[in-house]
Amino acid sequence: MVTMLEVRDLRVRYGAIEAVRGIDLTLRQGELVALVGSNGAGKSTLLKALAGILRPVSGSIVFDGEEIAKFPAHRVASRGIVLVPEGRRLFADQTVLDNLLLGAYRRRNAYRQARPHDRVEEHLDRFPVLRERRDRPAGTLSGGQQQMLAISRGLMAQPRLLLLDEPSLGLAPLLVRQIFDTIDELRRRGMTILLVEQMAKLALRRITRLRTAGADTCVAEQTLLALEANLKRLQKHRDWLQGDDSVVDQTG
Ligand SMILES: Nc1ncnc2c1ncn2[C@@H]1O[C@H](COP(=O)(O)OP(=O)(O)O)[C@@H](O)[C@H]1O
Ligand SMILES: [Mg+2]
Repeated sequence: MVTMLEVRDLRVRYGAIEAVRGIDLTLRQGELVALVGSNGAGKSTLLKALAGILRPVSGSIVFDGEEIAKFPAHRVASRGIVLVPEGRRLFADQTVLDNLLLGAYRRRNAYRQARPHDRVEEHLDRFPVLRERRDRPAGTLSGGQQQMLAISRGLMAQPRLLLLDEPSLGLAPLLVRQIFDTIDELRRRGMTILLVEQMAKLALRRITRLRTAGADTCVAEQTLLALEANLKRLQKHRDWLQGDDSVVDQTG
């Protein structure tokens, strides 16, 4: 498989706080890689750095052979890296439709080339509940509907690499299922996805590889096969499998 993203020794700080301490990560085209780790391990910070929202203090991010670590967010977006952030970050006062159209603006070239209104239809077909609410303010949607909208808005930017930050957080099981069905659909279409997810059981069935992020740095990178071999052991960490992220997998 072709390497799409190559992160080397990435460090990101908030003033004195070093949130990401020398992380390495490789993503090949078409892969779904899950990143797990305890609260505060730096997962969201890593995704923000990959999306160009935070500028790393050092290290390298090579995407499609191009060094992008110093790119501002709009240039990163123009290369096809899209972040669906933790907590959705929708424009609550804007309608569902406007939120979707704003997603298209994030990738200016794509916006000019493809007709965004046609793509809106595609996303409204995927989540009919959004079609029913297309003219309502996003702030009036339920948590699950907001997550569907946040993912759809991200997809409006036509990502090549989709970064999903805890998409199932706070959702009822049926909605979690729907979010994962969407992830499955995107994978079948060949999208490359980096997923931060505490619903480990659901994620484990799908991913090609798993990364664990510890307090200091990433501790493991495993193939799915290795993971399956370790599943028994992982299942002992029942708290972790149930989504309590206080236990970090130390296998590998
Ligand atoms: N805006 C911020 N300002 C200062 N510190 C932050 C900020 N955001 C996160 N942090 C700190 O950086 C570390 C990593 O946070 P985060 O990336 O959100 O972790 P995770 O997503 O893995 O839970 C934590 O110690 C957190 O308190
Ligand atoms: Mg986070």
